[in-house]
Amino acid sequence: EGKSVLVVGGAGYIGSHMIHLLRDLNIRHVVLDDLSSGHREALQGSRLIEGNCGDATLLRNVFAEHDIDAVIHFASFIEVGASVRNPAAYYENNVCNTVTLLSEMVRADVKKFIFSSTAAVYGLPETSKIDESHRKGPINPYGRTKLMVEEILGDFEKAYGLRSVCLRYFNAAGAHPDGAIGENHNPETHLIPLAIAAAITREKVLKVFGDDYDTRDGTCVRDYIHVCDLADAHLLALKYLNQNEASLAANLGNEAGFTVLEVIDAVSRLAGQVPYEVAARRDGDPAVLVADATRAREVLGWTPQYTDVNDIVSHALQWYRKIAA
Ligand code: UFG
Repeated sequence: EGKSVLVVGGAGYIGSHMIHLLRDLNIRHVVLDDLSSGHREALQGSRLIEGNCGDATLLRNVFAEHDIDAVIHFASFIEVGASVRNPAAYYENNVCNTVTLLSEMVRADVKKFIFSSTAAVYGLPETSKIDESHRKGPINPYGRTKLMVEEILGDFEKAYGLRSVCLRYFNAAGAHPDGAIGENHNPETHLIPLAIAAAITREKVLKVFGDDYDTRDGTCVRDYIHVCDLADAHLLALKYLNQNEASLAANLGNEAGFTVLEVIDAVSRLAGQVPYEVAARRDGDPAVLVADATRAREVLGWTPQYTDVNDIVSHALQWYRKIAA
């Protein structure tokens, strides 16, 4: 009986790609997920404990029953707009429940933690590419919940020796190339799946949120990073925690920006013309978000494999066709 990794939120979009990778590599793991937005099928048979990481009693049992060496925490609410309308739910789920999880880790003497953070911790960029030393100034409750947890982790390290890697994702996109798993949010708010749905069903017109930004075509620029590359980075983060005494925060992005119209073009070429109309700006959207991911490359040894936006879109399209069928 070797040690296991506890994957919280393993039934969700990014978590399920992590599970897929752990299975591929025969790394022992257990999933904790309340299935509030995750999908049981996405686990492909991996062991699921159904519950929320804010349930201290449940966690105590999980840590007592399984020999857990590290925790990877994917479970959180992710919609910027919803966080503005309902901050209570965001602070409760993303901050309070995470503190419970961390406290139970300390109680069980589990000292390695990998956290899904976000580019939203930076707020409005002051440089064309954002590196980790960029000023932190989230402009919405969602980003604040993630920054708060990062700060809490600093305190937990000093007081209890709990070490962490905070991975600040830019725009997660794509799906596993083997077609088994992919993005399945309800409601879907992300650009690439919405553009694909618009192209294929031709029922809904995609709304482009603003075309008067100070960018090359007036629409927002984002750094789209393949979900399998994100999963790889978590594996490297585990290795990092096994080999180093320090904690780390690292950006995960391709370091290349695409405008909304460029993404629509890519989807149009692969899936058919995307019907779209320009609508008002969406609250809380910075004009440009592009990563400087030097640290992940140099310190973690991370090399993203699917850097071509056409690969990202074609994997997402293959998955869309599968779930629509
Ligand atoms: N967009 C549209 N129309 C849509 C949906 C999106 O024009 O129907 C635009 C957005 O305005 C944005 C871009 O497409 O410019 C990407 O939007 P997404 O909603 O796909 O992603 P975000 O950049 O808003 O959000 C992502 C994550 C968040 C995270 C954020 C910052 O989903 O969790 O990146 O890192 F906070």
